[in-house]
Amino acid sequence: MSRRKKSRLSLVLPLAALATILLLIGLSEAQKQPFGTDADVSFAKSVWTAMDDYSEWPIRTDFYEGRSPHGEFLRTYYNIVTIDGTPYHVIAKDNYGGEGATMETVSESPNEYLASATVMVQRHEGYDPDNNDWFWVKYNNDGTIAKNAKGMALAGRVAKGANKGCIACHASAKDGDYLFSNDR
Ligand code: HEC
Repeated sequence: MSRRKKSRLSLVLPLAALATILLLIGLSEAQKQPFGTDADVSFAKSVWTAMDDYSEWPIRTDFYEGRSPHGEFLRTYYNIVTIDGTPYHVIAKDNYGGEGATMETVSESPNEYLASATVMVQRHEGYDPDNNDWFWVKYNNDGTIAKNAKGMALAGRVAKGANKGCIACHASAKDGDYLFSNDR
């Protein structure tokens, strides 16, 4: 009797330890997920709401010819935007293309050719110190947040640690500011 009790107890402790370890690993994995978390999606929605008039922002380029991956025609906008009560530097890029897209047709009816909007928001110091604290998000042309092939929302530190994606590519911009527009 006492032997059985002892052997049960000797199983309970290692199992409890294992469960704790798995839980801790799970928690740290969740913290490590660099983008597509609920918090990222929620911030990205606030960004979209706060920038609803961005086509009218005074600091914007005209339409210009773009290159992969952003689209055949582009337009870039900059502003300081108050998001959830805090002001942020925001750079937005409209990506146009599709059948019949020419400089003329896009300039005449941009909404018809809008494929997506890609946006960078510079967050507080420490948000992502390895990458200049930028928050990255890609919206579909209806303002919903685009997803990658795995179904992860493209919002947050996209795709930190990977060898392609927003951060990997923008890392090659001059002066380490992750911005190409000011390199010309
Ligand atoms: C393969 C490289 C590459 C990838 C991946 C990429 N970009 Fe870009 N991005 C560029 C280049 C090049 C420009 C400059 C284009 C231009 O204006 O001619 C640019 C411009 C921008 C701009 C305007 C600011 C600037 O740097 O000039 C924003 C905002 C932006 N990208 C957001 C994103 C987001 C968000 C993602 C991921 C969803 C992304 N980009 C993925 C290459 C890339």
